Amino acid sequence: MIISATIHPTTIQEAAAILREGQICAFPTETVYGLGADATNADAVLNVYQAKGRPRFNPLIVHCADLAMARQLVVFSPLAEKVAAAFWPGPMSLVLPMLPDNGIADIVTAGLPTLAIRIPAHPAARELIAAVGKPLAAPSANPSGRLSPTRASEVISGFDGQVPVLDGGPCHAGLESTILAIDGEAVVQLRTGALARDDIAETLGMPVPAIGEGSAITAPGMLLNHYAPKTDIRLDVISPEAGEAYLAFGGEPVFDGPMRNLSPSGDLREAARNLFTCLHELDASGATGIAVAPVPFQGLGEAINDRLQRAAAPRDPVAKA
Ligand code: TXA
Ligand code: MG
Repeated sequence: MIISATIHPTTIQEAAAILREGQICAFPTETVYGLGADATNADAVLNVYQAKGRPRFNPLIVHCADLAMARQLVVFSPLAEKVAAAFWPGPMSLVLPMLPDNGIADIVTAGLPTLAIRIPAHPAARELIAAVGKPLAAPSANPSGRLSPTRASEVISGFDGQVPVLDGGPCHAGLESTILAIDGEAVVQLRTGALARDDIAETLGMPVPAIGEGSAITAPGMLLNHYAPKTDIRLDVISPEAGEAYLAFGGEPVFDGPMRNLSPSGDLREAARNLFTCLHELDASGATGIAVAPVPFQGLGEAINDRLQRAAAPRDPVAKA
């Protein structure tokens, strides 16, 4: 790996200066690291697509410092207000109708009339957006189709040191935000994520259907994202084979090869936080494959299993994020 002399910002002000100049800069959020650009600057956003090798028709999430900034970009129905009040700042992205002439570069939404938006919980992320004074478009800070980064070091190695990164320590949640689309009073979950669907439904006091579960909302712009390590993945494995690496969940399995345990106590929150870093580490272990233990589907297990299934799926050259 070639690490060039990219200067990494060490303060929020330094990172804000890079972004104000129309350059890209990776920054921490509570979910995963984002690769940020001023969402009102089409050239800056183009640099994000180019750095990631991301298809242009896959729209980006816009990050706001506060609700006042968000209100200048999208229309909030009463249900959207309720969801925002309950979950922002936090790991929840809302796909809402855009206000006309809101200044967001067309390339951010890939031409859709809706915008995915969130207010992150990580204080450094909100301070950074406020210091830039503009909403930031930010996909996960990984080359398209690769594992999302939950540490600054993973961003640096993912882009061979070519992208400046503001280091905010390991991400607390470790999975991308949950994405809900809201159309009037209808809601659908477009992507599983760091907030479990059961918990969202309980807080809102209404069912939150998964995409395809009979909601009237369809999802143009949603692609079958892959979160793939370079090594092949095998799921639901109790006994890994010689030469493989093992990603365990719960207990103290005995295995004579590279092994990480997502959560020895079987805690899904801890497993979510550790998922991408464990996969990054086992990917670098030189094993012939990564065998993954079964993870229960309830709560955050829905999102963990989603990411694992995508990582194990045959690679599709187009559907990536
Ligand atoms: O936690 C996260 O959400 C992280 C951090 C950095 O905030 N960001 C992230 O972004 O995961 P990204 O680009 O990897 O995923 C964005 C997803 C894509 O699946 C995209 O298709 C979807 O959001 N999306 C964006 N705008 C949309 C829209 N208007 N309608 C439907 N889906 C949209
Ligand atoms: Mg991504």
